[in-house]
Amino acid sequence: MTKNLSLLILPGDGIGPEIMAEARKVIDWLSKKRNLNFIVHEDHVGGAAYDIYGKPLSDETLEIAKSVDAVLLGAVGGPKWANVSYDKRPEAGLLTLRKELELFANLRPAICFEPLVDASSLKPELVSGLDIMIVRELTGGVYFGEPRGIETLPNGERRGVNTQVYTTSEIHRIAHVAFDLAGKRNGRVTSSEKANVMESGLLWREEVTKVGAEYPHIKLDHMLADSCAMQLVRTPKQFDVIVTDNLFGDLLSDVAAMLTGSLGMLPSASLSHKGGGAMYEPVHGSAPDIAGKGIANPIATILSLAMALRYTYDCAPEAQLIEDAVQNVLRDGFRTADIMQPNKTQVSTSIMGDHILRAMDKLFKR
Ligand code: IPM
Ligand code: MG
Repeated sequence: MTKNLSLLILPGDGIGPEIMAEARKVIDWLSKKRNLNFIVHEDHVGGAAYDIYGKPLSDETLEIAKSVDAVLLGAVGGPKWANVSYDKRPEAGLLTLRKELELFANLRPAICFEPLVDASSLKPELVSGLDIMIVRELTGGVYFGEPRGIETLPNGERRGVNTQVYTTSEIHRIAHVAFDLAGKRNGRVTSSEKANVMESGLLWREEVTKVGAEYPHIKLDHMLADSCAMQLVRTPKQFDVIVTDNLFGDLLSDVAAMLTGSLGMLPSASLSHKGGGAMYEPVHGSAPDIAGKGIANPIATILSLAMALRYTYDCAPEAQLIEDAVQNVLRDGFRTADIMQPNKTQVSTSIMGDHILRAMDKLFKR
């Protein structure tokens, strides 16, 4: 009997619907050609949900998200909702999903595909063969810490407050994810914080060290977050797994993404404890400036689907098929605008999707 693979698709805002349409083509291909039994739900999140439901994530959508095996999300946000209050902003929909599904482990692999070595803003020899895994803590830290808010002081001054806070159990569980992953990769973990100025950073360093003692075969080192950002653009290949908090992870993963040529290339997986929920999304945002133009890069979303196949659906061969197809399309010279290089063929979002399907066809028939 074929297993049901339940999936909730949330295209979101900006380029979200365009890139998701391409992921959908890949899902249809897998259903037809590989007999995978996807049960697909589709709904709104972010500004799109705010416009329809009056909030960036409706209770019904959240219930569906909790009931499915995985969520595939496009992107949220845009200038249209810039004046909406924080709790109703598009981003709040995403943060609620992360929190409610307890998606504490955010895996952001920065892999430089060989044909894109020249597309990076760094020298080719620095990024050729690059394969870093950023493990970002996703449900704690300053994104969720209390107290938070903007208050007016008696003297009329305004004061904005956010709180960086981590507990030992939050640090331990993300550290375990990082060490376990490093065990399947190159055996190295770099933990990044600001222990020199922040108590929460010092605690992070001490607790990651304790967890590290349970993994004697993994080499652990610590790096201050500012230095880590610098080292990422200096000698990125020194890293294997980087484990870091929510805010530094947000920053460092954008930096790492550019090493691969474009933000449009980076997928991500947000995972919970074993048997819990999972969400997959491209690392890039909703890019409102190019929305509707048909030029966005769908690869990060399609690679996010590949991650879902690998981590949630236990379909590693299909994940590999997608990744190989992307590699082949890039090798054949097809590029969206963000990764365009001299003497290559620039294609639209949907033509890129078609090329990936064709490459999957070819690989499958082989
Ligand atoms: C990301 C994004 C989000 C974040 C935004 C959209 C809330 O930048 O996933 O990296 O800050 O986590
Ligand atoms: Mg970000």
